[in-house]
Amino acid sequence: MSHARLDPHHAVADIDRRLFGGFVEHLGRHIYDGIFEPGHPTADADGFRADVIELVRELGVSTIRYPGGNFVSGYRWEDGVGPVAERPRRLDLAWHSTETNEVGLHEFQSWLDKVGSELMLAVNLGTRGTQEALDLLEYANSDAQTAWTAQRADNGRPQPFGVSMWCLGNEMDGPWQIGHKNAHDYGTLASQTAKAMRMLDPGIELVVCGSSGRGMPTFGSWERTVLEHTLDDVDFISCHSYYQERGGDAQEFLASGVDMARFIESVVAIADTVAATAKSSKRIMISFDEWNVWYLHDDDGGQNDKPAEAGWPVAPRLLEDRYHALDAVVFGDLLITLLQHADRVRSASLAQLVNVIAPIMTEPGGIAWKQTTFFPFSITSRLAHGRAVRVPVDAGTFASAAFGEVAAVNAVATIDDDGVSLFVVNRSTTEATDLRVDLAPLVAARGTGVRLVESHLLHDDDLYAANTLDQPGRVGVRPVPGARVEGDVLVLPLPAVSWAAVRLA
Ligand code: AHR
Repeated sequence: MSHARLDPHHAVADIDRRLFGGFVEHLGRHIYDGIFEPGHPTADADGFRADVIELVRELGVSTIRYPGGNFVSGYRWEDGVGPVAERPRRLDLAWHSTETNEVGLHEFQSWLDKVGSELMLAVNLGTRGTQEALDLLEYANSDAQTAWTAQRADNGRPQPFGVSMWCLGNEMDGPWQIGHKNAHDYGTLASQTAKAMRMLDPGIELVVCGSSGRGMPTFGSWERTVLEHTLDDVDFISCHSYYQERGGDAQEFLASGVDMARFIESVVAIADTVAATAKSSKRIMISFDEWNVWYLHDDDGGQNDKPAEAGWPVAPRLLEDRYHALDAVVFGDLLITLLQHADRVRSASLAQLVNVIAPIMTEPGGIAWKQTTFFPFSITSRLAHGRAVRVPVDAGTFASAAFGEVAAVNAVATIDDDGVSLFVVNRSTTEATDLRVDLAPLVAARGTGVRLVESHLLHDDDLYAANTLDQPGRVGVRPVPGARVEGDVLVLPLPAVSWAAVRLA
């Protein structure tokens, strides 16, 4: 048995809806054969798959970062606007593919209108610089009469796109990045670009690149140097992190949330140190704009990110990870971790959405289906509103090689005007537990009793069960067996390796 306490006075912060963002990159079959397949039986007049649109809507994605990723560091955004027949085919060096440019800014915005999500744009600071970023910003956001805005109108969009969040490049600390820079050079370019972009549109919010992982050799010093250059110019610094089970050690993999928490807390500490040193009260927020489970490395340490085909294929099958039940439990814990840090993580993007390390998969001409990770995301996005509230848990621990003693149960709650949601993970691979959540402080604060409205359990006796083309409904969620409210106590029986969400009214 384990115990927790839900006290509404222990609020972390109001949740920014942008915490439930996604990421769409021109990569593999994400755009082509993913969201865009004109020949598909469900394709609409614009060539977008209606079955995918429906699933993305159900997933509940607030903001979508576009068009990359590594792709953006070699991208010429002008290639993706204007008459489609005249758009150039280009080599995409990041993913060793051919980009046809059939989908660009206008098409993507019209897809976003259909899925009900907001655009977040990244500019290319790899092969390009301040001027091209300004050109794109003017094209997208200006309402002045200029050559760029006239071109936008000719291309079917007289009104500005009105993009509010902009990423100043992508993973510029990574040696794999086209135009990779050291922290000083990147910080200088990012500051100069940010200042110029704000001269054009003072209302935008800017994200400077942090480290592409906590394990990067430059982690820490990168953030410090970059923020020393850009503290006054930007609103966010990015974090990127991907997790995978290594060497068949499920228990260690289940500690991934601890790594994410330490990453966030370290970046906050560095950002606040830079601000304090500059005698500034500015609080830089975190845009965790790439996070997920990703089996990037094979067992021999090699990387699974190159097309199998020779040459420069169009939309090859790349990064098409199949997620199993265990992955989804870790994934649910990562969402809990983001909510626990909602005071400083004000934006996050699940990387990615369709076919490429994605919660949604498609078959050309065939079905679209939900991977296991779809469920924790859609349920958390739907139920987590209002304020995030800390939920201290008194449970057992397990030993992690990387993190020492790790709490076996992790939880967070959210409170809104209509009720309370609780998100819980049992990270133990061996121990089931009956979690007893003391609701007395909540009942006292609200002056009324609580009742259980809905509950969802993600657990499979086979940790490696997955949804596939042949068995798209193999893993799902069901009500938590035995979940109940007894007086002022919520009782939640949690099997080993499980994620659960509960809604109380
Ligand atoms: O999401 C896949 C890739 O991971 C992105 O293109 C890059 O930014 C990161 O390394």
